[in-house]
Amino acid sequence: MGSSEWSHRSDSFWSNDNVAETGCLSIIVLGASGDLAKKKTFPALFHLYCQGFLPPNEVHIFGYARTKISDDELRNRIRGYLLGERSSSPSEDVSEFLKLVKYVSGSYDSAEGFQLLDKEIAMHEISKSSQEVSCRRLFYLALPPSVYPSVCRMIRKYCMNKYIRYFPADLGGWTRVVVEKPFGKDLDSAELLSSQIGELFDEPQIYRIDHYLGKELVQNLLVLRFANRFFLPLWNRDNIDNVQIVFREDFGTEGRGGYFDEYGIIRDIIQNHLLQVFCLVAMEKPVSLKPEHIRDEKVKVLQSVLPIKDEEVVLGQYEGYRDDPTVPDQSNTPTFATVILRIHNERWEGVPFILKAGKALNSRKAEIRVQFKDVPGDIFKCEKQGRNEFVIRLQPSEAMYMKLTVKQPGLEMSTVQSELDLSYKQRYQGVMIPEAYERLILDTIRCDQQHFVRRDELKAAWEIFTPLLHRIDNGEMKPTPYQQGSRGPTEADELSAKAGYVQT
Ligand code: NDP
Ligand code: BG6
Repeated sequence: MGSSEWSHRSDSFWSNDNVAETGCLSIIVLGASGDLAKKKTFPALFHLYCQGFLPPNEVHIFGYARTKISDDELRNRIRGYLLGERSSSPSEDVSEFLKLVKYVSGSYDSAEGFQLLDKEIAMHEISKSSQEVSCRRLFYLALPPSVYPSVCRMIRKYCMNKYIRYFPADLGGWTRVVVEKPFGKDLDSAELLSSQIGELFDEPQIYRIDHYLGKELVQNLLVLRFANRFFLPLWNRDNIDNVQIVFREDFGTEGRGGYFDEYGIIRDIIQNHLLQVFCLVAMEKPVSLKPEHIRDEKVKVLQSVLPIKDEEVVLGQYEGYRDDPTVPDQSNTPTFATVILRIHNERWEGVPFILKAGKALNSRKAEIRVQFKDVPGDIFKCEKQGRNEFVIRLQPSEAMYMKLTVKQPGLEMSTVQSELDLSYKQRYQGVMIPEAYERLILDTIRCDQQHFVRRDELKAAWEIFTPLLHRIDNGEMKPTPYQQGSRGPTEADELSAKAGYVQT
């Protein structure tokens, strides 16, 4: 930034220490009329409210979008989505929560709308003015990325938390901005977006959300890897043959064809969600659990990924995808991809990481499969012996299980493949697993950036995929058609097998 305009900001303020985490909180959902806002953002806020994280005497929620609707119309639009799959909250909670929600209509690039928004927020802050100096403003951009730069400019110009300008830093208060994926379309566009937003906000104010980082079993990865003696000596090329990170959906692009066709499965799922999981599986042990230490390790492993080879990629497009009127008849966009990543470092040299994602497949599932090498000098050469495999199922039905060979119970000496199974529903009965968005919004309020993507991490992620994406965009690589409800192109299974994966 370097401009004297912002010279009031002291280093100690912008470091995360000493920032007030209590006091009046305004949460502003921009794009409040949209799909993400109604299905994910407002329900996550509602569940945080029900659990006491958004006290009604401190919090106010504002929806902002161009659509001209009243407060009540917005409330009616979101009401049916608030409970989600959980029915434990009484309907009074819904009504009480909705009283906290207001709506402001305005465009994404005009002073007028944002001045009005600022006025509404300020009125709320004044009404709860016991501690003016610690007012907090959280802007959630549930919007297409094309409008991020103008929206950020408007927030910076008209809607910043005013009090921080007049009081010493340690009196607190903050403004934070949450931005959704896709953050750019390739390396250059992402870097441009990063610098546009970076001119307006400092990195500690920017929360690039990837909701996979809020999933329970993704959050468990560091604990599993670094708090268990079982895994420490085994987690390397000497013992692991291959790793698969798989995302499947059993439905197509359903109403999002226009968006999807511009991005495709690699930008929609692999470059962000699966790559974040990849980082947590493959990175070295961080110095500590401080967000910067964790993110430093993620960047390092991303930077160690070798260029992707065309022969280690299979692309697919489900039959019927182009029937969507918002998808061009000649679309070359993949709805399925298997991509093998290889890491050039001491731990992982030679181990393929098979990242696979697809829409309109035969099941809905996201899982990590760590497959171990065959036992050397094996003395049980019988048919039923499979490889050891450690499977972490992110969804549905969170679970982790270890496939291992045991003696077949009975008089005969034969072996069988069995599982050590930790299924969360059985083991943690009655424990509610929070939705990813709920957790991540709470992290944002608490100033914890551990589960958010740092700018250099994003850059490293785009560096890996940009050459491949450009080859696809230029039509140099074409997707193979596959049937809806299938496993995807058979070539993908062949590629996994060639890379070393053995069906257990
Ligand atoms: P929508 O298409 O529903 O857009 C959200 C709102 O933005 C709309 O209600 C509209 O509000 C406004 N808007 C739409 N198009 C434009 C445009 N071209 N120019 C200006 N404003 C526009 O998006 P989603 O809610 O589905 O997604 C929002 C963000 O979240 C996106 O970045 C998306 O990639 C990301 N995301 C979405 C997920 C989902 O499940 N939907 C999942 C993960 C990420 P109005 O016209 O009233 O101003
Ligand atoms: C979103 C993608 O980021 O993640 C969607 O844009 C996809 O295409 C969704 O359906 C999957 O999320 P989840 O949490 O249902 O696996």
